[in-house]
Order: sequence, then structure tokens, then C-alpha cells
Amino acid sequence: MTDRNRLRIAVQKSGRLCEGSMELLKAIGVKLSIRDRLLIAHATNLPIDLLRVRDDDIPGLVMDGVVDLGFIGENELEEKMLERQAQGKQFQYKTLERLEFGGCRLSLAVPNEMDYQNVQSLQGKKVATTYPFLLERFFREQNVDAKAVMLNGSVEVAPRAGLADAICDLVSTGATLEANGLVEKDVIFRSKAVLIQRSGDMLDSKQQLIDKLLTRINGVMQARE
Ligand code: PRP
Ligand code: ZN
Ligand code: MG
Repeated sequence: MTDRNRLRIAVQKSGRLCEGSMELLKAIGVKLSIRDRLLIAHATNLPIDLLRVRDDDIPGLVMDGVVDLGFIGENELEEKMLERQAQGKQFQYKTLERLEFGGCRLSLAVPNEMDYQNVQSLQGKKVATTYPFLLERFFREQNVDAKAVMLNGSVEVAPRAGLADAICDLVSTGATLEANGLVEKDVIFRSKAVLIQRSGDMLDSKQQLIDKLLTRINGVMQARE
């Protein structure tokens, strides 16, 4: 059950952003009893409901006003914004805070044996990625005529499988690239987690709660500096 007087926050159910988001909520005093398979978790001490979803869905949920706040990686956010812009859909949101977790980079990587001088070496090639809009924007800026091939998963095996010549994927430790015989060449986007709010009117009581949470987040971030 949800009611519109309660603040709805979308968080990633599992993955890169999950732990940081949950830790931060705990640190600012949001008490939750999460049972693992539940999509919705209710805070026990504040009028807050947590929606636990795939990170890819979070920007759209905020932009459609289905949730009030979302913890999301800038990579997913920017990609979804470009996608929605291209589709003529609503893509508004407000960034409340840039956070200190979920750091990663979106990079071009090529097979070890490929002769790569610079991004021009990808002229006429196919590049597998989950972020076609960010990648195509980069190619446009660099005047490279290459094709983004969209894959939702297993991007790192695309060159070996003959689906693409190179990849553009998230890298943090680099272990995935190394395990797949790929070398990181160019960083096209650097990302951290951000807290975003939907655009449009907010009930006073909810906006006051958001302001209170933000004050606490700033306190926690300062204490960690
Ligand atoms: C990303 C990326 C690689 C991995 C790289 O996936 O697709 O699989 O992280 O990290 P590494 O450099 O530390 O090996 P992730 O699971 O974070 O995101 P996704 O589930 O949204 O694809
Ligand atoms: Zn994802
Ligand atoms: Mg992955």
C-alpha cells in the first residue's frame, strides 16, 4: 500500500548503487525493515516508502513523477535524458545532491590485439554498449562515424562473439575488461551517484521532509570528509 502523503524514494534493488544508498538512508535516520523480495519497503519512523527497482528504471520513474526522489548514477540519468529528449518525452528533474559513492566511468575498450591509436581508429566500426545515446553523442563530438550496437548485458563478450569490434561499458576496477581480453582506451563519461527529485509541485509536508533529509545528508557528508 502507498499513499500520496508519504514520500516515495526509488533505490536500486541490487548493484553498484544499492549499498551506498541504503547506508546513507540509515545514516540519516530512516529506519527500514526490508524483506528481501519486497518491491516496496515502508520506513517505520518517517512517512517514507522505498521502491526497490532496477537502476535503469529510476530516471524514468522520477521524470514521470511516479516517485518523488531517486538515488541514481549520473550515467543512467544522462543516458535516459538523451533518450527521452530524442523521443520527445518528458525529461525534467532536479539534482539535489551529488553523492560520494557509485563512482565509475563509461569507457571505450578494445580487444588487446586491436591496433588503436585514438578514437578515429573506430571509424566505420561497431561498438557494443548499453549506453547508445551517450556513445553516439561522443562519436558526434569527435567526428567519428561508428555504429553503437545496443546490448543490455554481456557487453564485454561482444567482440569475441563477433557482434562488435569494440565496447563502451562501465568500468570501476577494470577486472571485467581484463578477464575478457579488453583494454580501456578512452573515458567518455565519469559518473557518481546523485539524489534527484521530480519536477512539479510537492505537498508542503513532503517538501519539508525532503529539506530535512537533505540537511542530514549534508551533515553526514561533511562528517565523512
Ligand atoms: C558494470 C559493467 C561491468 C562491470 C565492470 O556492470 O557492465 O560488468 O560493472 O566493473 P569492474 O570494472 O569493477 O569489473 P554493473 O553490474 O555495475 O551494472 P549493470 O548491472 O547496470 O550492467
Ligand atoms: Zn543497470
Ligand atoms: Mg554489467
